[in-house]
Amino acid sequence: MMKGFSQVAALAALIAPSQAALRFACGTVTIQRLDPVVEPGNIGSAHLHQVVGGNAFNASMNGDIGNQGTCTTCTFSEDFSNYWTAVLFFKHTNGSYKRVKIMENDALPAGVNGGMTIYYTQQDFNSNGKQKITAFKPGFRMTVGSPTQGKDGLVKHKGLRFTCLTNGKSTRFPEVDDFPKTPCKSGLMTEHHFPACWDGKNLDSPDHQSHMYDTQPTGFAAGGACPSSHPVRMPQLAYETLWDTAEFANMWPKDGSNPFIFSYGDQEGHAYGTHADYMFGWKGDSLQKAMDSSCMFNACEGGKPLKSQSVAEMNKCQAKQLVKENIDGWLPALPGQQMAKRDSKRKY
Ligand SMILES: *[C@@H]1O[C@H](CO)[C@@H](O)[C@H](O)[C@H]1NC(C)=O
Ligand SMILES: *[C@@H]1O[C@H](CO)[C@@H](O)[C@H](O)[C@H]1NC(C)=O
Repeated sequence: MMKGFSQVAALAALIAPSQAALRFACGTVTIQRLDPVVEPGNIGSAHLHQVVGGNAFNASMNGDIGNQGTCTTCTFSEDFSNYWTAVLFFKHTNGSYKRVKIMENDALPAGVNGGMTIYYTQQDFNSNGKQKITAFKPGFRMTVGSPTQGKDGLVKHKGLRFTCLTNGKSTRFPEVDDFPKTPCKSGLMTEHHFPACWDGKNLDSPDHQSHMYDTQPTGFAAGGACPSSHPVRMPQLAYETLWDTAEFANMWPKDGSNPFIFSYGDQEGHAYGTHADYMFGWKGDSLQKAMDSSCMFNACEGGKPLKSQSVAEMNKCQAKQLVKENIDGWLPALPGQQMAKRDSKRKY
């Protein structure tokens, strides 16, 4: 035992401290009812998703995503991963629904179509904690949060949050557990922080979560040590999605009730019901190179060490539309959600 421990300690001492953090934009690649992780093969998954990343996105996806497709909507042009979340809708008091558009963060280049903010940090923003940060492997996928998750979900994942953007898009506090009760002047942000400790064996698991373990105390704080069941420290992945709710500010219901609803039919808007999906697709060892470097945000672009592309190139990239349905304008029901189910307290 002692020998094993001192070997681990010796190894840790060899790993130099570094401070790498990626924060970048990925524009919309498609908005569609597809979910290759949770509902592979279904052309018309249960609810609508907001998807960014590589254009190979499809009803089912296998193998090395980094080698599939021809382009990506992300700033880093070697990142063919897919990142997605449920879409937010506004529900009018007259019963009609309208999709809430996403908008990019202030810190990202102007003109990105839609756009989520993606983060890959080490132990936290400031350091790798002198540990090796192991990039995800080809075929790796995971989800965080679940529409069927109860309040205990928030205990497991402290990084599922909402922020009411009261003072511009850069508002970051307070982070809250439920939908804000009043209009948010500059929009609503949903945050998804994924777990970063891997079991070292499985690229996926039946619930798409148990191969990973979360040790983050909250938001972007330093993750605690990985447990022996999940000993491999991976990049800390997080999404920020900014919903442009301003167009609905003067349609807020007179009775003060919340008018927003996620595409899976959740109008109560608890952070523990939100969810996000990830499918790794960086080319070759590009993500590992970034995690081994000390570059920060935009300084990682232009081959230092990551290849990057212009906003015009990002915006040209689109995935095929396999589900033919109208998702814009005022709709009588949420896409894929039957009228009968619409107002019931469905679990999924
Ligand atoms: C999506 O998957 C189908 C069936 O596997 C395949 O025929 C099709 O070419 C794929 N589309 C794209 C855009 O990759
Ligand atoms: C509900 O209100 C919106 C906005 O005024 C309108 O465009 C839509 O047609 C209305 N829906 C119904 C069913 O009246």
